[in-house]
Amino acid sequence: MLVLGIETSCDETGVAVYDSGRGLLAHALHSQVALHDAYGGVVPELASRDHIRRLLPLVREVLHKAGAKESDLEAVAYTQGPGLAGALLVGAAVANSLAFGLGVRAIGVHHLEGHLLSPLLEKKAPSFPFVALLVSGGHTQLMRVAGVGHYEMLGETLDDAAGEAFDKTAKLIGLGYPGGPALAKLAERGRADRFAFPRPMLEQLEKSGDLNFSFSGLKTAVVVLTRTRALDEQTRSDVAAAFQEAVADVLVAKSLAALRRTGLSRLVVAGGVGANVRLRALLDAAASRDKFSVFYPAMEFCTDNGAMIALAGCLRLKIAKTARALPLGFTVRPRWALADVAA
Ligand code: KG4
Ligand code: ZN
Repeated sequence: MLVLGIETSCDETGVAVYDSGRGLLAHALHSQVALHDAYGGVVPELASRDHIRRLLPLVREVLHKAGAKESDLEAVAYTQGPGLAGALLVGAAVANSLAFGLGVRAIGVHHLEGHLLSPLLEKKAPSFPFVALLVSGGHTQLMRVAGVGHYEMLGETLDDAAGEAFDKTAKLIGLGYPGGPALAKLAERGRADRFAFPRPMLEQLEKSGDLNFSFSGLKTAVVVLTRTRALDEQTRSDVAAAFQEAVADVLVAKSLAALRRTGLSRLVVAGGVGANVRLRALLDAAASRDKFSVFYPAMEFCTDNGAMIALAGCLRLKIAKTARALPLGFTVRPRWALADVAA
């Protein structure tokens, strides 16, 4: 079964072809980082327009790389939400038109479901059930995943997402957009123990087993510090390292608690912050110490991409109980809780 996947929820145009038997055949990505850089963040209207420009050429390129024709496709999967409404509409319109023209199914995929299933693209893939730590620019969630569509929320952020905290802190120390990767790079030259930043919600974990997160206090601690000190190069690196250490410590502690609570021994990490090398090192160390397995997508599939959408679409198609009619209309869901995704 050959599925085309289309991702346009934010500032990346991602396209991929996934085969249920052979796995990922081809993928391509166009990042809009350069386009939004001058504005210090994503400008939604510019994002939509760029998706319009890029999407069809990328679809042609990926089909060519996969050695497939449009008529070989059995379904077209696309990110239906959550995300920027205009950006989502571009992917949804192209996917539904293509599917309608080909007489195949269009499958609206939840963006976070794409992220959390993305480690299944790897050769060393986790089997169900597992605990998923989803850490992206918009979400920070711990979930018990029993199978495709069976997601039980264990904890989530009460304010900023982990990626958002990285991006905001990066801005405070003079780094551009998107700040996460730049901050991580700067942190390599810093000393994590020079500043003692708070580990938000760790006390609650000890007291009541609360698996929720909160990162806005940590961001405020960085604001206070940067206002009271000259930010020379070494200080910026030290702030970056100390901040990264605080976020990673909290993510690791809560992930371990989620494993203990569920009695599971497999942890899946997905989303853009899952590309953070320090977080991966701390999780790997904990995994060998506490005897659990940890699974990550390849670095390039941590951030937004078409491959995870093609894969999720393919898995959704397999479990679809009844064949629905071919699409004649569609809608996007800019705000969409993963808990509302039915199995
Ligand atoms: O999953 P993603 O591509 O988009 C969303 O669905 O939000 O995640 C993007 C987020 C951004 O906040 C970015 O700064 C962060 O992931 N990120 C990182 C790293 N790479 C990307 N944060 C920390 N360290 C990284 N290496
Ligand atoms: Zn994402």
